Amino acid sequence: MKKFALIAAAASLMVAGAMPAHAAADGAKLFSKKCSMCHRIDTKKVGPAVKDMNKDPAVLKEVITKGRKMMPKFGSKLSAEEIDALVAFIQSKQPK
Ligand code: HEC
Repeated sequence: MKKFALIAAAASLMVAGAMPAHAAADGAKLFSKKCSMCHRIDTKKVGPAVKDMNKDPAVLKEVITKGRKMMPKFGSKLSAEEIDALVAFIQSKQPK
């Protein structure tokens, strides 16, 4: 019985470790999962480099939500909170 309790404790620790304590969207993680195949921070790839993107958060949000030419739209794939997190991430990588 003692052994079982130990295993149960270890398993719950692993679950806790896999899930972030806060549910806030992680812009950096989202970017590497959904955007990095086309966008790099410093160099142009399929799409423009993050550092060269528009500086207006309203424009960033609009392009991510609705798409533009080769840029796919993410309005139906990501929540408003996730899109806000991506906009904040892009802004954090742009020169002031
Ligand atoms: C299939 C490739 C592809 C993917 C995936 C992609 N993009 Fe793009 N993105 C582009 C291209 C190409 C453009 C340039 C569009 C144009 O020519 O107007 C662009 C443009 C943009 C712009 C506009 C930049 C500006 O200066 O106006 C933003 C912001 C942007 N992408 C953010 C993202 C984010 C955030 C993601 C992930 C959620 C993402 N993109 C995923 C290809 C992609």
